Amino acid sequence: MTYKIEKLVEVKNLKKYFKVGKHQVLHAVENVTFDIYRGETLGLVGESGCGKSTTGRTIIRLYEATAGEVFFEGINVHGKKNKGDLKKLNRKMQMIFQDPYASLNPRMTVMDIIAEGIDIHGLASSPEERRIKVYKLLETVGLNREHANRYPHEFSGGQRQRIGIARALAVEPEFIIADEPISALDVSIQAQVVNLMQKLQEERRLTYLFIAHDLSMVKFISDRIGVMYLGNLVELAESDELYDNPLHPYTQALLSAIPIPDPKVERSRKRIVLEGDLPSPINPPTGCRFHTRCPHAMEICKRHEPKWLEVKDKHWAACHLHDLNKF
Ligand SMILES: Nc1ncnc2c1ncn2[C@@H]1O[C@H](COP(=O)(O)OP(=O)(O)O)[C@@H](O)[C@H]1O
Ligand SMILES: [Mg+2]
Repeated sequence: MTYKIEKLVEVKNLKKYFKVGKHQVLHAVENVTFDIYRGETLGLVGESGCGKSTTGRTIIRLYEATAGEVFFEGINVHGKKNKGDLKKLNRKMQMIFQDPYASLNPRMTVMDIIAEGIDIHGLASSPEERRIKVYKLLETVGLNREHANRYPHEFSGGQRQRIGIARALAVEPEFIIADEPISALDVSIQAQVVNLMQKLQEERRLTYLFIAHDLSMVKFISDRIGVMYLGNLVELAESDELYDNPLHPYTQALLSAIPIPDPKVERSRKRIVLEGDLPSPINPPTGCRFHTRCPHAMEICKRHEPKWLEVKDKHWAACHLHDLNKF
């Protein structure tokens, strides 16, 4: 897949902290900076709890940012906006969730679920147009109009995810954040949903932020991939480059954990097993947050946070091993 370098979303030094308990602060997202180009799929990976969902939710304004900025088509998402810009943001950025069942109102028919955005944004001028739009959307996602009067519980997991996709598409978005949209589905269904998303992307020139907790499916879908660890973005590169030439020791460890289908190669696969537990984001390690588990940790890593640098052409990393200013 090719994409033109046109920035659709710009994320700059984004931070999101949560207050937990009376005096504690959880640093869920810390100084995350990246761009998303129009038409691309950017994969975002990392272990559970590393801040992927919080990043997505803060970009789309489900959460206020603690600090930093997000721009969508030049509009400051967290800044003061006029009504027109606000409406535009609400329409053009949509989200698809991991568990479509939890995100679909069980008491609403599929018709009303999908039409909700159409109603809010006044995208149909008559009940007839509204109905036809929903029928078309159902067909677009591989369901049919007979499904419109049913309720979410009457559908399989894969079908419910299709309903979630139809709901997102109803308002004609440009950018969709898909938060582990296939993680809860049977493996046999996952590829169908991914294929559907890719078809829609081509037809509508959609841009995706595709969040996943493992690297195996995400390579197939993503043009570029970002890797998160404990609230930090540690590496970002084009998919092939990230797989062939991972720079960050954390990415190297993640990649080494993916089984290789060829049994001969699989036997010789070297796994990098990380020592120690995942530290708490309430009290994250000083310096590089990964230093407590990094097989290559040096003195400087404990004291200084590595800079987020374009280490090679289009290949970003935050790691003192690759910090050009080190010497
Ligand atoms: N609403 C919230 N309140 C407090 N802590 C939260 C909230 N949402 C997420 N967190 C915490 O923020 C960190 C990142 O969570 P999350 O973004 O959900 O990670 P991921 O999606 O990568 O699994 C975790 O430590 C999680 O417990
Ligand atoms: Mg998540």
